[in-house]
Amino acid sequence: MKPSIFTLILLIFGTIHIAQGLPLYKDKNAPLEQRIEDLLGQMTTEEKIQQLNQLSFGVNLNPNNKGEAVNDVDPQVGSLIYLNENPVERNAIQQRAMEKSRLGIPILFGFDTIHGIKTVYPIPLAQACSWSPPLVTQAAAVAARETKLTGIDWTFSPMIDVARDSRWGRIAESYGEDPYAISIFGAATVRGYQGASLSDSGSVAACLKHFVGYGVSEGGRDYRATDISAQALWETYLPPFEAGVKAGAATLMSGFNDISGVPASANRYLLTEVLKQQWKHGGFVVSDWNSVEQLIAQGVAKDRKEAGLKSFTAGVEMNMVDRIYADHLQELLLEGKVTMDSINDAVSRVLRVKFRLGLFEQPYTPIVPEAERYLRPEDRAVAAKLAEESMVLLKNERAALPISSKVKSLALIGPLVKDQENLLGCWSGNGKPKDVETIFEGVTREFGDNVKLSYARGCDFDGTDESGFADAFVAASNADAVVVCIGEKKAWSGENSSRSTIALPAIQEKLVARLKETGKPIILVLSNGRPLELQRLEPMADAIVEMWQPGVAGGTPLAGILSGRVNPSGRLAITFPLVTGQIPIYYGMRSSARPNDGNYKDISTEPLYTFGHGLSYTSFDYGKATLSNSKLAGDQKLTVQVPVTNTGSVTGQETAFWFISDPVCSVSRPMKELKHFEKKTINPGETVVFTFQIDPMRDLSHPDSTGRRLLEAGDFHVRIKDQKLTFELVDDDDRPTVPAPVTP
Ligand code: BGC
Repeated sequence: MKPSIFTLILLIFGTIHIAQGLPLYKDKNAPLEQRIEDLLGQMTTEEKIQQLNQLSFGVNLNPNNKGEAVNDVDPQVGSLIYLNENPVERNAIQQRAMEKSRLGIPILFGFDTIHGIKTVYPIPLAQACSWSPPLVTQAAAVAARETKLTGIDWTFSPMIDVARDSRWGRIAESYGEDPYAISIFGAATVRGYQGASLSDSGSVAACLKHFVGYGVSEGGRDYRATDISAQALWETYLPPFEAGVKAGAATLMSGFNDISGVPASANRYLLTEVLKQQWKHGGFVVSDWNSVEQLIAQGVAKDRKEAGLKSFTAGVEMNMVDRIYADHLQELLLEGKVTMDSINDAVSRVLRVKFRLGLFEQPYTPIVPEAERYLRPEDRAVAAKLAEESMVLLKNERAALPISSKVKSLALIGPLVKDQENLLGCWSGNGKPKDVETIFEGVTREFGDNVKLSYARGCDFDGTDESGFADAFVAASNADAVVVCIGEKKAWSGENSSRSTIALPAIQEKLVARLKETGKPIILVLSNGRPLELQRLEPMADAIVEMWQPGVAGGTPLAGILSGRVNPSGRLAITFPLVTGQIPIYYGMRSSARPNDGNYKDISTEPLYTFGHGLSYTSFDYGKATLSNSKLAGDQKLTVQVPVTNTGSVTGQETAFWFISDPVCSVSRPMKELKHFEKKTINPGETVVFTFQIDPMRDLSHPDSTGRRLLEAGDFHVRIKDQKLTFELVDDDDRPTVPAPVTP
């Protein structure tokens, strides 16, 4: 057999390097694929298998992931979850890998930096309510820098599961209910983590998770099976992952969920055919914590060995913590059940990420003083700005907000006023309560001596103890206005934190009811990791601010909204049901066969707050929207514009949401689908024009159940606010059509 050009180049390069005493894979100037090939060619099977093994180093405080804490690390191991808070130990372990392993392959250190590691910023659900992808990118870049300086090269984020069941605790980690919004924010986060180049000193590798459909866990109960049709996969659950792959995400994590009988961590169709063959992803997939071994519990593998076989042949390259690959891959290879080619492919993928991160050249983390590493003022400022833009003014009546200059005394009441820990939210990295600015501190700074502040805790987050009500009542009675800060503890959302009701515990509702008796204006401030059922609370409040779980810097932004220094600009990226029993409820539902019928007989069928809801201290007047054309032919694009005027007296930011509807199609479509959004600042009296350029293949096509995108001629509607404009996509044989189908 004649050697290929590639082999010849390799031989030539190899000879030169050997002559220089440097193996080719160690030459940073050699082409990436040749470095991989060269290294792979020198590895033993045992060394290869170790590259696919990920263990956990340090003490894991995550109650769901109590694995063994490995302290005696094999220097050949592929990856470690690094739970320590500084890089010293990482460097020591890495030194052993570089110097004591035969080939000196650096270890890849991973960790869950989800919304910051020290400078913790708002939970992802809140971030999406900012509708500001650039800010989200900036915050992710802050997180990346701090993560890297902690000794970690790879974060298990972003979570881009579409989440529509607010009982599911992990909804806090998602960007909400809409596939398009999640795609945009997921990609924005990837860009922030990975920077211009993965090898930059402030970049870490991203991990899109959980591939795919984990948000559909039955009944909102974590770890349960998901039943997802092929149509739903392609139109709702896969698009954010495709966008993340296009944004360059280096890795993905396979989910815990069983997708209609085939668990995500053993799903060859999704992991190999879709991800690797169709989308051409060149990085690797890591299993979720124990998700390979869990194939046994899910009833598709009889033992660990079979679980490993299923997962590996499906396309999971790295095995998180359960050591199944380390224990069984060699044996499976000898039995001919897995091939050396597939092991080589898996190892190349892992090595590719390590090379791209520049780990072979820069295996160690520089040690910088803590003050330069974490919580720098400029980084806190990014967290504060994101918190400010993500808070949503849900209700504002009787001019309760902003707090008028006539208000001379303010009562701050509730378990969250002086809380630090819970404002961090779930998955708060190495964030510390002591670094969190409280609501009390923010408000004190904001109002200074102009307003007399009083404080009463009132009650705990739950329980039945009403003994604090009396003090709270007195404080409220003596104040001109009352700010009640209630909500969820951070552990009430996140992993394994499902709830049967999304209402707050009765004690908090009772506290508000008691305070309402004072007759004073009630301003509710909510901090929570999921949409809440506010059916009973909403009527008692004059104003409601959803502050979410803002991280370390939420006090000042909230206080700015209360005082009016900040004009709230957040808009909901998720629907707030009226009551839990309405779930599932989201804006993009399909039309009913009898649209005016079939509603609940005991409650309203409308949510309390719809997707996109959010008030401002100014008013925006939408003028008449116009289309550049009423017909679209060939490869034409269509421009739709709407002028928006700030008719109030303060500067504000408005987000325009553009939706498309396809009223007649071979596959019935959601009643409307978000296709574009834009946030702009508008001064009083100023008119700005929002523009959406409709690209037919991107915005008017839909997938079928094999993932093929179809573009069907006919009428479409484009919607902005309450306007609906109709245009026609003309039948055209020459119009470029669709990528090839994928066979399930
Ligand atoms: C979670 C993942 C996380 C992993 C590692 C799992 O329990 O589902 O999202 O990345 O643990 O901590």
